[in-house]
Amino acid sequence: MLTKKPKTKILVDGGDPDETLRVKQSLGFVDGQTTNPSLIAKNPEVQQRIASGRSLTSQEEQDEYRKIVQTISPLVGDAGVSIEVFADLDTPAEDMLSQGREMFTWIPNAYIKYPCTHEGLRAAEISVREQIRVNMTLCFSQEQAAAVYAATKGSKEPVYVSPFVGRLDDRGEDGIDLIKNIKAMYRNGDGHVHVLSASIRQLDHLLAAFALDSELVAVPAKVLEKWAASNFPMPSRDFTYKAVTSSGEPLRPISYKELDLSRPWQSFDINHELTTKGIQKFVADYRSTLKRSA
Ligand code: E4P
Repeated sequence: MLTKKPKTKILVDGGDPDETLRVKQSLGFVDGQTTNPSLIAKNPEVQQRIASGRSLTSQEEQDEYRKIVQTISPLVGDAGVSIEVFADLDTPAEDMLSQGREMFTWIPNAYIKYPCTHEGLRAAEISVREQIRVNMTLCFSQEQAAAVYAATKGSKEPVYVSPFVGRLDDRGEDGIDLIKNIKAMYRNGDGHVHVLSASIRQLDHLLAAFALDSELVAVPAKVLEKWAASNFPMPSRDFTYKAVTSSGEPLRPISYKELDLSRPWQSFDINHELTTKGIQKFVADYRSTLKRSA
């Protein structure tokens, strides 16, 4: 078991309470949990239902999601459980907000996940005023992170922003650079947004998140189990992250941009192809659990 907890809070990235419990037993703690529609669709009970021809109605899928997060909630520490609203590319902020308000009542330690889109940011801006904790997901650019900062300024609770490392790597860009750039940009800020490094695919991503002092990291159980099996290595003081693909090809660096965090959030260019694709994938995975007529 781990003797000294890292400064970075560790969240299990998954949708299965048994898995969270297993990780907790091997680490001795779990600070939090992140979920999303794809991860909930992979939950063993949900999968079993689909395999036996009993796909869910949208109400049953909602009930299932609630049951899953209610089981996970008491297992984790103060980083809470992130619950994602259902949003396609046309979902207005008001719709996301009403889902967020409802989901926030499910458990005492909820964070509501909204996408880094115009409507998601609008929902977040109102949510923080209502003291609903938020986690801004599908972040792929420094501009999106700047917009999150500006839209949630004044929040009484820490706001999470989730840059997706692995999905940038997948297209040849160095996702860890995005974490580095956002952390550097936020150094000029008031500290209300915490960086939750997400889409972590391998041990080196985890070590880089630690080395960069990411406030939080969302990690799949299999990476945490690998970390445990290697006796919880931590980055040494001279740790350097090797920005290469799994086949050893170098990843393209992402350069830092000077952005003024005091600008209105609407003035940042928040469009990113991977945010759009990410929403489409969540919608497809969510729909795959539903009855045809639902
Ligand atoms: C966490 O909030 C994200 O949903 C998750 O890390 C995405 O990871 P993936 O890119 O491996 O799907």
